[in-house]
Amino acid sequence: MKKVVIACFVIALMAACGGSDSKEDKSGKTTTDNSTNPDYQNGLALVAKNKCMTCHAIDQKLTGPAYREVSKKYANSSDTIVSHLAQKIISGGKGVWGEILMTPHPDLSKDDAEAMVKYILLLSK
Ligand code: HEC
Repeated sequence: MKKVVIACFVIALMAACGGSDSKEDKSGKTTTDNSTNPDYQNGLALVAKNKCMTCHAIDQKLTGPAYREVSKKYANSSDTIVSHLAQKIISGGKGVWGEILMTPHPDLSKDDAEAMVKYILLLSK
């Protein structure tokens, strides 16, 4: 059921932006099912635990960018992006998606932050 909802979101999102991304087709079969991937499960649990969803949603811009957009933006980046984004979550920052600040999360370990980044990056795979 959850997958259907996510698929609907994806279709709505594609319709909204013209669906120009060649990786996606109109059938809604846009992303592989990563929900059994341990990186996905682990990262998702941490994202929930650390209240990231007060500012982020998967397919909707809230205070922060939609995680799927983040995932697409960095889809072709090298592996160092995981460490870079993890550090950004810990230190906070702005300027990539707009002028709204992501508050720092100094109590997070780098390992946990990286696990969350891995989950986010899986959203466009
Ligand atoms: C107070 C609101 C807020 C909270 C809480 C928050 N974020 Fe963010 N996040 C933002 C904003 C705003 C941006 C955009 C920053 C920018 O433009 O550089 C952002 C950007 C990001 C990015 C992309 C960074 C980039 O440079 O492209 C990632 C990844 C991210 N957040 C993950 C997380 C995770 C994981 C958590 C939970 C630990 C979290 N965020 C909690 C507001 C928030």
